[in-house]
Amino acid sequence: MTSLPNDPRLSDGRWLRIPGPTPVPPRVFQSMAQPMVPHRGAEMSGLVRNLRSKLQEVHRTDGDVMVWSGSGSAGWEAALVNLCRPGDKVAVTVCGDFGRRFARVAEHLGLRVCRIEAPWGEPVTAELVAATLAAERDVHAVLATHNETSTGVTNPLAEIAEVARAVGAMVIVDAVSSAAAMPLETDAWGLDWVISGSQKAWMCPPGLMIAAVSDRGMQAAARDGGYPRFFWDAEKLAGGMRSGQLPTTPAVSLLRGLDTALDMMLEEGVEQMWRRQADLRDYLRSALIELGLVPYANPAYASASITSVRPPAGMHAARFRDLVREDSGIELATGQQPEAETMIRIGTMGWTHLPEIEATVESIGRVTRAAGAG
Ligand SMILES: Cc1ncc(COP(=O)(O)O)c(C=O)c1O
Repeated sequence: MTSLPNDPRLSDGRWLRIPGPTPVPPRVFQSMAQPMVPHRGAEMSGLVRNLRSKLQEVHRTDGDVMVWSGSGSAGWEAALVNLCRPGDKVAVTVCGDFGRRFARVAEHLGLRVCRIEAPWGEPVTAELVAATLAAERDVHAVLATHNETSTGVTNPLAEIAEVARAVGAMVIVDAVSSAAAMPLETDAWGLDWVISGSQKAWMCPPGLMIAAVSDRGMQAAARDGGYPRFFWDAEKLAGGMRSGQLPTTPAVSLLRGLDTALDMMLEEGVEQMWRRQADLRDYLRSALIELGLVPYANPAYASASITSVRPPAGMHAARFRDLVREDSGIELATGQQPEAETMIRIGTMGWTHLPEIEATVESIGRVTRAAGAG
């Protein structure tokens, strides 16, 4: 079994290199393993207010940031029921499975959806978004997937947001696999609602949904005629985050874990953290190419948080994943439909450093050579 330095292995010896959940640093786990405290007491109130300001720092915003118990999918719904009204028209970027799902959530909620589609492996460009916005009148919001986890493509979010704002549309961003992994400038890019989940680059277990919301977003949430909501009421939660008195019982242990993870991020420095993950992507992609494997995503838009690659010719992705697990204990992900059998996905987000990626490349190399490729 390969020896890895940052190594909280699973009990059966496996090591996660899937695009979430990601490895959790022992320091984060230690901070979670504490007795419960009153959720309305001074300790939690201080923690919530500190958490808010640290989250503002990483999201690059002076606006509201809030944390709900939930997963990334809850973030789609929470964003839409707060910022949209039934029957609003929304334009959704779709270049993979998660954009596809975001569009479906909007349809479930009775929004009028127009899809802005690009082939898998390619980005939805700002030009495509601009063309749709020129053809469609009265688009209330653009729903953009920043990083498409199913293909390993990062969409050009700053440019997309610019064309959306030029026609007065709100910008709702699925940043589930981009927040804390790559440049994401909530205020400078004019993003109105930024969704993410604790199990990705935030270095925490699953269970928290995080949302950064602009002033414009909070104003939209306060309009009459919106969706009925109670748990997903952003105004109520934003007020609670400011005062430190949350409206419902929060996931105390997970909030403690996130607070510690944020300390680690700020100790490293936000820009250094982004750079580290981009460097890992660059190292991994060129090593895979050297092994004779074929990366999937358009190289100009290749993600810093997840790298997608074709398995060796003639081998199914699930078989390749199983062989790598047998070889090293390293757990890769296969693709999602329709690329389930034809794509391997490797996570580089969160608590990940060069030695783990080197070990991953070595294991992939052994399996690839044994398969007669590379
Ligand atoms: C880009 C993106 N959006 C949304 C989701 C859904 O998040 P969850 O599975 O936490 O509900 C995921 C999950 O991987 C994702 O990668």
